[in-house]
Amino acid sequence: MRIIVSGAAGFIGSHMCDRLLKEGNTVVAVDNLLTGSLDNLSHLDSVKAFQFIEHDVNIPMAAKLPGGSYDAVLHMASAASPKDYLAHPIETLDVGSIGTRNMLELARINNARFLVTSTSECYGDPLVHPQVETYWGNVNPVGPRSCYDESKRFAEAMTMAYHRTHRVRTNIARIFNTYGPKMQLNDGRVVPAFLDQALRGEPLTVFGDGSQTRSFCYVSDLVDGLYRLMLSDERYPVNLGNPREMTILEFAERICGLIRSGSTIVRRPLPEDDPRQRKPDISKAKRVLGWEPVVTLEEGLKTTTEYFRQKVAITT
Ligand SMILES: NC(=O)c1ccc[n+]([C@@H]2O[C@H](COP(=O)([O-])OP(=O)(O)OC[C@H]3O[C@@H](n4cnc5c(N)ncnc54)[C@H](O)[C@@H]3O)[C@@H](O)[C@H]2O)c1
Repeated sequence: MRIIVSGAAGFIGSHMCDRLLKEGNTVVAVDNLLTGSLDNLSHLDSVKAFQFIEHDVNIPMAAKLPGGSYDAVLHMASAASPKDYLAHPIETLDVGSIGTRNMLELARINNARFLVTSTSECYGDPLVHPQVETYWGNVNPVGPRSCYDESKRFAEAMTMAYHRTHRVRTNIARIFNTYGPKMQLNDGRVVPAFLDQALRGEPLTVFGDGSQTRSFCYVSDLVDGLYRLMLSDERYPVNLGNPREMTILEFAERICGLIRSGSTIVRRPLPEDDPRQRKPDISKAKRVLGWEPVVTLEEGLKTTTEYFRQKVAITT
């Protein structure tokens, strides 16, 4: 297949490009480098089936693309870490709305499949636990995080509208916290933040009392779920994440044990609208895609720690 991937220079996008190429596809990667880095794609420089185009997907791009038709459009572009979307709220709303519309148009004119990477943030601070796809969410539409949550909810609505109106073969992935190599050290998400602090021997920052829960999915598992979803006929959202839930405090202690840096834990006030609980119900992904995560937290953290160890060594 010939596939367009937006957000390709980001953490998940770059891993997705690797997987698509491994499966024998041709990839046209698009990114405006707002939060991504060309370093994530530099290993593909000499790969013939891969091409990178620096472009903001909020601007229509059909004219910039290599000729011929495309079989799939994967729309992964969006600031994703709280630090990034709080720094770029308008860009985040634009890429979920205008950017999604532009990418759906590309899919429509090419009669291509379309997949959008939505998020568990659509559930907001959930009143249903674990979160199942039929739950409509508890989102503050005017809080600081709304730029991300509402952008993704709009993206889902636009995707369904293109499916219903134009019969585009769409898929919606609701991704839960994912981690792995190629995350940015300083993007504010909990895995790089804890690993960075632990590897530098600094105290780990826990917000609130640390009793809020998260579940962490290793990136190769997530990419496998996205790939299966892209090939499926499922038009409604599918949760992709690891259901193994733990408190943030427990996670911080686990990282301290793993790195053995002797780091202590410091507490800071909980950010506004921080969700109390996060755990995906993945029964639908199991049933529809035959998918479930296979990488244990121990294995995933080992690989990720090795990556961050090198990064921290470079920056110190
Ligand atoms: N990582 C997670 O845990 C997680 C969880 C839920 C959803 N997601 C979603 O998965 C996708 C990838 O997330 P990530 O963690 O890799 O984030 P990331 O920030 O590493 O990657 C996003 C990429 O999108 C690019 N981008 C942003 N705006 C753009 C625009 N207007 N035009 C072109 N490119 C643009 C950025 O430069 C970056 O390379 C996002 O859509 C995100 O919302 C991620």
